Amino acid sequence: MDRKQALKLLHDNMTNQNLRRHCYAVEAAMLGLYDRLVDGEVDEKEKEAWGVAGLIHDADYEATKDEKDKVHTKEVGKWLEELDARVDVRDAVARHGWTYIEDAPKPDSKMDWALYCCDELTGLIVAVALVKEDKRLASVTVDSVMNKWNSKSFAAGVDRKQIEKCEQYLNIPLREFVGVVLLSMQNIHDDLGL
Ligand SMILES: [Fe+2]
Ligand SMILES: [Fe+2]
Repeated sequence: MDRKQALKLLHDNMTNQNLRRHCYAVEAAMLGLYDRLVDGEVDEKEKEAWGVAGLIHDADYEATKDEKDKVHTKEVGKWLEELDARVDVRDAVARHGWTYIEDAPKPDSKMDWALYCCDELTGLIVAVALVKEDKRLASVTVDSVMNKWNSKSFAAGVDRKQIEKCEQYLNIPLREFVGVVLLSMQNIHDDLGL
């Protein structure tokens, strides 16, 4: 499954613009994290797979949110299997639900952890941008994100603990992790409408 197929699968199943933008943000973050973590030369196929995992991770959100017998991550898992997507991509998508989907498996690979940790962070960064006067990602800095870290009432739905796992499992200090994801999002600010 290449990026084009992944984008089609996303757009066929997700109509909400804000939800789509979340997926674009996570794709960008995954590409940035691949570059940060790669040991040696960039493998373009591998990098594309990281991006695809990010782009597609919530593709079944609309298809499952009001369906009692359909579970987020499990539906998209079926679609990915039908399309013969890479096993590591399917695993990362399934495992990103580790702490909020019943019996979702724990992240294991670097790709899994990157997706799990950056997912929530993209939401926090958007929230920080939206309280800037110009509402632009360009006005967001690592400091402005970190200043909101311990403010429990700010973007209260964002699980900081999930993001902080980047230190233990990816060996990236939190501030640096925030910086990589922020820059990746700033690079596609038009697509994110910010
Ligand atoms: Fe999700
Ligand atoms: Fe997500």
